[in-house]
Amino acid sequence: MAYWLQCIECSRKYEKRDIVYTCPHCNGLFEVKYDLDEVSKIIAGHEEFKRRNQGIWSYREILPIEKETNPISLQEGGTPLYHCKKLGNELGIKKLYVKHEGMNPSGSFKDRGISVGVTKAIALNFDAVACASTGNTSASLAMYSAYAGIKCFVLLPEGAVAIGKVSQAMIHGAEIIKIKGNFDFALELVKSLTTDPEKGIYLLNSVNPFRLEGQKTIGFEIFEQLGEVPDNIVVPTGNAGNISAIWKGIKEFKYLGFIEKIPRMISIQSKGASPIVRAIKNNYEKIQPILAPETIATAIRIGNPVNAPKALRAIKESNGIALAVYDEEIIQAQKDLARLEGIGVEPASAASIAGVKNLFKNGQIDKDEKTVCIATGHVLKDPDEIVAVCKEPMKLFEDEESLRAFVEKRLSSF
Ligand code: F0G
Repeated sequence: MAYWLQCIECSRKYEKRDIVYTCPHCNGLFEVKYDLDEVSKIIAGHEEFKRRNQGIWSYREILPIEKETNPISLQEGGTPLYHCKKLGNELGIKKLYVKHEGMNPSGSFKDRGISVGVTKAIALNFDAVACASTGNTSASLAMYSAYAGIKCFVLLPEGAVAIGKVSQAMIHGAEIIKIKGNFDFALELVKSLTTDPEKGIYLLNSVNPFRLEGQKTIGFEIFEQLGEVPDNIVVPTGNAGNISAIWKGIKEFKYLGFIEKIPRMISIQSKGASPIVRAIKNNYEKIQPILAPETIATAIRIGNPVNAPKALRAIKESNGIALAVYDEEIIQAQKDLARLEGIGVEPASAASIAGVKNLFKNGQIDKDEKTVCIATGHVLKDPDEIVAVCKEPMKLFEDEESLRAFVEKRLSSF
């Protein structure tokens, strides 16, 4: 299938084999473009994709990988979509759904993009890849690089990455580089390490447009699982790649005639790291970076999101919303989801639920709207946070009698 890279600012086109991450002419972000008219001649309807049942690779005709290339896949995608009736009732929204991306191989949505990205790296003959990360990208990249047999460098902001994620990068054998500074600085460093493709290291942060293509499949799956387009898709936003990717996929499905309606794209950030929310609120053309972002949701502790220009467009074009939530609201939402629905997610993911709660309260989401929250990462990613926010003391019992008395008391108050 024909595809190429196109700058979203100056529209200049580049060949698919050109190793460019941003536009050499204007430094704009790239997007992968396909000959969608050609695709529509081959794919009769979206049911065809659904029937294949191969996770993200069901959508091969609209992924930037040649037919002959074997995907580096660990069976990513195909994650569950839960109808959260109890939580929905509590919030006053009947049609609340959670797409649990924590059920991907490494426990986050990153696997969708990294599967495509590592496949691309191999196809381009790279034998080393790198990323800066708040944790999940590094876990995923380490896992897929191990499987592919290539070298992996991950740059992590010192002291700011949850232990579950670092340990994944360790066990899969990545080269872990601690950076003095935050994620935004680590990203600058890794970009400069990989500017010279001759050095042989392929950059797999979400500035890489091929990677984002894998992530757009989240939207396709939501549509197939629900049987219709929801009113709202709510996305916790950090570097702003995911919300941009999902929106791009929706536009492609619309062009192909597979859907008519479009959802509102809703971006949720934490109050201490909310440059996108500020830009939307103040109608800025560009975001103003936040120099010292801070939040308990370390995955989205990002002040200068690289994909902001795409995300701002996604929110505006879809008539969407951007909202910031407090850390306390994130923690409450994380507990509610775990205790009412049995869904364990990390703090960044719970931001989406906290956001929906506020949007319903202030009248921006109606009680009858179908709303899908993207739960981006698994609860086991950040066990330290769980222990810190679940302060119920663990009792030490020395004899059976006091243990029985305690259990009976608790049973009678259940
Ligand atoms: N939720 C989780 C759990 C994440 O790990 C991330 C990003 C996001 C949401 C935000 O997604 O960046 O596409 O807006 N984590 C990156 C990382 C930055 O390095 O793992 P985004």
